[in-house]
Amino acid sequence: MTTNLTSGQNVFTFPNDFIFGAATASYQTEGAVSEDDRGVSIWDTFCSQPGKVYRGDDGNIACDSYHRYNEDLDILKSLNLNGYRFSISWPRILPEGTGVINQKGIDYYNRIIDGLLERNILPAATIYHWDLPQLLQDKGGWANRDTAEYLADYAAICADAFGDRVERFITINEPQIVARLGYRIGVHAPGIADPLQGGIATHHILLAHGLATQAIKASQNSAKPVGITIDLTDVVVLDENAQDEAIQIDREINGLYLDPVLLGTYPDIKRKEMLPPESVIMNGDMEIISTNIDFLGVNYYQPHIVRTASETGIKFNEFPYDNHANIVAVRPQDMPVTAMGWLVDPTGLDRILDKVHQMTNLPIYITENGCAVNDYVDPNGNVHDNERISYLQGHLAACWRAIENGINLKGYYHWSLLDNFEWAEGYSKRFGLVYVDFSTGKRTLKDSALYYAKTAQMKSLKI
Ligand code: FCB
Repeated sequence: MTTNLTSGQNVFTFPNDFIFGAATASYQTEGAVSEDDRGVSIWDTFCSQPGKVYRGDDGNIACDSYHRYNEDLDILKSLNLNGYRFSISWPRILPEGTGVINQKGIDYYNRIIDGLLERNILPAATIYHWDLPQLLQDKGGWANRDTAEYLADYAAICADAFGDRVERFITINEPQIVARLGYRIGVHAPGIADPLQGGIATHHILLAHGLATQAIKASQNSAKPVGITIDLTDVVVLDENAQDEAIQIDREINGLYLDPVLLGTYPDIKRKEMLPPESVIMNGDMEIISTNIDFLGVNYYQPHIVRTASETGIKFNEFPYDNHANIVAVRPQDMPVTAMGWLVDPTGLDRILDKVHQMTNLPIYITENGCAVNDYVDPNGNVHDNERISYLQGHLAACWRAIENGINLKGYYHWSLLDNFEWAEGYSKRFGLVYVDFSTGKRTLKDSALYYAKTAQMKSLKI
């Protein structure tokens, strides 16, 4: 329902049970990497290698949420949020990746989950948000099929330990990024730049999702919904000649992950090196990967706008597009960009949700959406992040439109609750609703946090 107010102000009302949440991930926020018997993760190793992460930053302290979690939970409460998406650190639960369970790791997440429930905030737990135990990387990581089985064992442990209280489990965060940035291009841990391993990792991480889904559903202690989070990019094509290539790009970045999970098949992709080699796809794998899930998590950040490259060379607002030689990515002059250089286009979220809706009737959660801003605390102690407020407004309005159009969208988790360790960008990019001073750990609510708090409280968006 929309109510028209004076001065052109619109109020968009959301369903009462809609989740207004925020998201974080273990390695990006917890710190305490050597505490309470946590094992080493591939991100600890990657960060220690010179030149891999901006300025040599690492997650050793991050937001120190391992110690400050009560303060963070209080902040969630003060923002009137009814959902929190966090990830469980595999090396905290199983320091060696398999085998002996570390009770201190279990205890930590029990404190988080119980603390959320005490504050009436629904916990959504991601099983794998990229911090693979290093000992499993030493055996090949996601290029090794056994890792999928190990993840399923670890997921079963999480379901047994937390499934009585967690509201929803997300098996894997963004399999596309794991395979592409971690194995194909190598700008994320474990830093492998090998297309063949990229294809193999794609299959194994999807297999891990299927096996983990089955393991969680088999747990005696959990009858909780299980899903996966896939990052989806809206591909916009500007000219007729680029149509076919744009379809291929869409399959490479979206279909390669959506289709196996929802349809049980890999899409028809011309660049065969993007696909897993036939030799790694065993009988029955596609059935496992497409095991029924209960919801789909979607991360949306930006569209990719493409056109045919001009014969006279690349123009000032164009960039080469990955491995597509005759295609360029376009940055329209009138479209805002974030501090990451990502385009801001909420209508891309409309299109992504339409696309997913055509494929499935599953409940959908936006498990991440947000923007990096060059935030700073002003002399009065405020952070005026108007860009983030307008980003939030635009994307929440797209969520509202989706619901109005009959799409089964159940919630929105802003990325992120806190400024945190932004992977290869280190601490140089701030995505939080809450500003974190990384030298003291001090948290300051940004203006966007206050705006979001009002929206969550009223369950309606004012624009
Ligand atoms: C996503 C990641 C998340 C965060 C945002 C900005 O790809 O899932 O951890 O880094 O991007």
